[in-house]
Amino acid sequence: MKTTEFFEKHNYVLVKNFIPRVLADYLYRYSRVVETSAKIMVDTKFPKYDLEIFGKFGDGQVPGTFYRYADPAFDTLLVHSVPAMEFVTGMVLQPTYSYWRMYKKDDVLKRHRDRPSCEISATLCLGYDTSNVKDKKYNWPMWIDETGSLTNPGSPIYMEPGDCIIYKGSKVDHWRLPFEGERLAQVFLHYSDQNGPFAQYTKYDARPFVGLPGYFRDQEKIDKAGEIGYNLYTSQMQGLGEEGLAEKSLIERTQRDFDDKNEMKLNDTKNSDTKDK
Ligand SMILES: [Fe+2]
Repeated sequence: MKTTEFFEKHNYVLVKNFIPRVLADYLYRYSRVVETSAKIMVDTKFPKYDLEIFGKFGDGQVPGTFYRYADPAFDTLLVHSVPAMEFVTGMVLQPTYSYWRMYKKDDVLKRHRDRPSCEISATLCLGYDTSNVKDKKYNWPMWIDETGSLTNPGSPIYMEPGDCIIYKGSKVDHWRLPFEGERLAQVFLHYSDQNGPFAQYTKYDARPFVGLPGYFRDQEKIDKAGEIGYNLYTSQMQGLGEEGLAEKSLIERTQRDFDDKNEMKLNDTKNSDTKDK
């Protein structure tokens, strides 16, 4: 089955070698440099360390794990990949933001769906170090379930550096079981549908342009997108009936929209704390 047909049918697809291996290797090395330099700044209490610009250790989903929002290198990849994403999805897309993580040993990603405004997402493997694992063929899969039923066990999807999964984050459950390796760098690229309900609020994630830190997000637009997303969820839940509502994932997913917003506010507070010191 062709990539586009598979995506249409399942709401996700694995694309092997989405970027060439040599580029994935370079970006993996880059991610190691960024993480290590941020750690040195944290350890030495470097007064000019800015969490929004240099990246942070820990987010709401994976505590203590380094991540960086809108890293210019990956926001560039985000924009550069628009034609490929449009080809696979058959949609007209606009870039929202990139986000990357350096997963560490024992990290897990809880089963979840993304907020509705994350209409199309891609998760791309940059590289990993699993030399500590006895099984030399060890590979850490992302699990996907497209049925929406929590009782469905889902399927593992394995990625090598350069491979990516393109998926409708708000339509398929996705998660990861505990990681056994040392580290794994993964970048997430998010897009919204130019013909969808979020279009006027989500371009560049409500920033004037890509490559800019979170400080530049327009709170009014973010709130508006959150409101549209919440209303979408509410109407979906009303159509589910009692049995459907028992699938608590929907409720949790709705909650996540608010958690995300609160986390952002919390981070803003933490950030200004850091800068004051
Ligand atoms: Fe997600």
